[in-house]
Amino acid sequence: MKHLIDIQELSTNDIQELLDIAEDILKDPVKYSEKCRGKKLATLFFEPSTRTRLSFEAAMYELGGNVLSMASAASSSAAKGESIADTAKTISNYADIIAMRHPKEGAPLVAAMNATIPVINAGDGGHNHPTQTLADLLTIYCEKGRLDNMTIGLCGDLKFGRTVHSLIAAMARYSNVKFILISPVELKVPSYVKKDILQQKNIEYVQTTDLEAVMPELDVLYMTRVQKERFFNEEDYLRLKDSYILTPEKLKNAKSDLSILHPLPRVNEIAVAIDNDPRACYFKQVYYGKIMRMSLILKALEVL
Ligand code: CP
Repeated sequence: MKHLIDIQELSTNDIQELLDIAEDILKDPVKYSEKCRGKKLATLFFEPSTRTRLSFEAAMYELGGNVLSMASAASSSAAKGESIADTAKTISNYADIIAMRHPKEGAPLVAAMNATIPVINAGDGGHNHPTQTLADLLTIYCEKGRLDNMTIGLCGDLKFGRTVHSLIAAMARYSNVKFILISPVELKVPSYVKKDILQQKNIEYVQTTDLEAVMPELDVLYMTRVQKERFFNEEDYLRLKDSYILTPEKLKNAKSDLSILHPLPRVNEIAVAIDNDPRACYFKQVYYGKIMRMSLILKALEVL
């Protein structure tokens, strides 16, 4: 695994290896505290982030390594017109691994083609967010004890939500996983995801606009925010932004062992009243995100 641009590049065995390393880190973090001594991670974020950038940085520090941080395009020479390719060639002289987020789909791939060090996609436009997916998989694995035999509801902005596209691609490889895709008509999962993943692998899925109607079926509910930054027109965003707001009332018919996930940031789609419900896993998911990024850095740098 030199680079990680798309979750599809990882085999099921690769994912299992990352989960196994993550589980071992959870059990014995001290064992890993010096593994990256002398190594540097560069976080190149051309788009805002709290969790992904800071969890990558926390992960590298917890492995004993160091971090070079570029938190915005405005603070880099991208603001003067420098290309992604030249940036990647430059950073290859300073660091051992790059985590890159960019608003343009494919930008981390261009970086990977020009860097001499591993590049990890930390989110590219509305396309992919493979490290969030690895965090989601670890959360489901730890909470449910399995990644197969379950019904997953994905709810909200399934069109622009890049975490949704990567999660479907990852979970589709496990047996007896059924997807319930809950969204406004305008924000349905893109047809390429349905055609290339769900239909091609003959995976059971249902599309609906009605969250409450399907609630009793769900083992996992993956809520997402409506992605304001991807809309061309503010009027459409304002009309759709509160399409789904999960409240205690709406969980009345949910399973007692439902796991509620959200990649965060949350805007309005989960009422704060749910945060103390034992089924709410989204802040645990943040913690698992850091652990999974430690696992990924170890594997990419081959320092196991
Ligand atoms: N989940 C996620 O990608 O969060 P940030 O945008 O804060 O990194």
